[in-house]
Amino acid sequence: MRPSTALLSLEQTPPLSVPLRFFLTAPLFGIAAALLALWLGPEAMGSRWQPGVLAFTHLLTLGFLAMVMFGAMFQLLPVLVGVQLRRPVPTSAAIHLLLSGGTLLLVAAFLSDHNAWFIAAAVVLALALGLFIIVIGHALWQARSTHETVCAMKLAVVALAATLVLGLLLVLANIGSDLAPLRALIDVHLAWGLPGWAGLLLVGVAYQVVPMFQITAEYAPRLRRWFAWAVLLLLIAWSLAFLHLPALAWLPGSGLAAAFVLFAVVTLRLQHKRLRRLPDVTVDFWYLGLACLLLAAGLWLLHQFAPQLIRAQWFHLWWGVLVLIGGAGAVISGMLYKIVPFLIWLHLNNRMQQAGLWQGDIPTMRQVISERSARRHLYLHGAATVLLLAGVAWPTLVFYPALLLLAAAYALQLWNLLGALRIYRAVVQQAVTP
Ligand code: HEM
Repeated sequence: MRPSTALLSLEQTPPLSVPLRFFLTAPLFGIAAALLALWLGPEAMGSRWQPGVLAFTHLLTLGFLAMVMFGAMFQLLPVLVGVQLRRPVPTSAAIHLLLSGGTLLLVAAFLSDHNAWFIAAAVVLALALGLFIIVIGHALWQARSTHETVCAMKLAVVALAATLVLGLLLVLANIGSDLAPLRALIDVHLAWGLPGWAGLLLVGVAYQVVPMFQITAEYAPRLRRWFAWAVLLLLIAWSLAFLHLPALAWLPGSGLAAAFVLFAVVTLRLQHKRLRRLPDVTVDFWYLGLACLLLAAGLWLLHQFAPQLIRAQWFHLWWGVLVLIGGAGAVISGMLYKIVPFLIWLHLNNRMQQAGLWQGDIPTMRQVISERSARRHLYLHGAATVLLLAGVAWPTLVFYPALLLLAAAYALQLWNLLGALRIYRAVVQQAVTP
């Protein structure tokens, strides 16, 4: 399958190593998260405030989600938005190294509760995220494209900057007892990191990749114009209310939940009416992800308006599993199964063209990663999500199988992505051997 690429500036694509180093590292952090939880056991993972849960959360938010999203932005900015990044190879390599190291340091800090680890993690993560925000933010503000994706990406970068500043304040709260009141910022940090940075970026990228790769109609221009701004304003209103007028926080909070419900419903409708009716594992990853996001929004509303119906401790863990693993994790994995085969195809095509060779032997996207192996990953990911949700209520029965499945799902994802790289290398090798 070859997607419609009419709107892309394909000649600007950065070297394959730039996005791939991020995409191949992300599943390793997923595996590390599952193994860490298995090692700590269910007693250490039963409440959102336990160090093990905080370490697990950041292995997934920074190590998996941000890792893939950083790689995707290095790739998409030149191609979708048409801006050239200066020296993308060393810049992306430095950011990748800092993000990987900083995430591991933060995990060590949560688990050891030593100030030195917290300070080291804060410095390295500030460098990683700060450098990314400067490089990508500068490129975005230079962009001449007026597409709504650019606007959503800009606001996502603003949300990432807010998440970083709040994360740094939380580190200060953890190392200095005088600053303990700053811990009230945890939920604000969470909101700017998940619905803010991750949500806005996913929505902005979806405007382009859902119609292009899933052969659907376009998102309505009106929705594209207001959505990202509405999320940003609601986040600001919610943060102010949460900190200063908690009795009113439900209002902007419900607005945020409604915005993401609307996005999920519109996307499901577009996918339902798509022109190409062939089975497509990416669409199924999206179905899983959007269903989990809808459940997370419903759960949040239930917790707001009928908190007596649900144990607070279970609510936080369910919400985390639905958003991080079942929701954003599935959607991002689905996107990778299109973006990576497309990049392999594109780079092979470019290399053949440059060498003046015939391009007819280049594998198609579906040959680069087969539908069957991607689908096995989908089933493992879906089963892990369901078992993790059950494990919140019945940890002694389900905890270990759920996390083993999660580790297996990330391991299979890594295997599939490495398989794509193997095919790339084999084709290049074949082309250069006389
Ligand atoms: C995109 C990036 C990030 C996301 C999505 C994110 C997400 C989260 C979430 C969901 C929580 C709450 C966890 C829970 O309720 O169990 C949290 C807490 C926390 N995060 Fe982050 N985070 C991000 C980046 C960072 C960074 C860069 C730092 C440090 C520089 C950081 C430091 C912290 C700290 C210290 C806590 C609170 C720990 C405590 O005192 O209990 N986070 N984060």
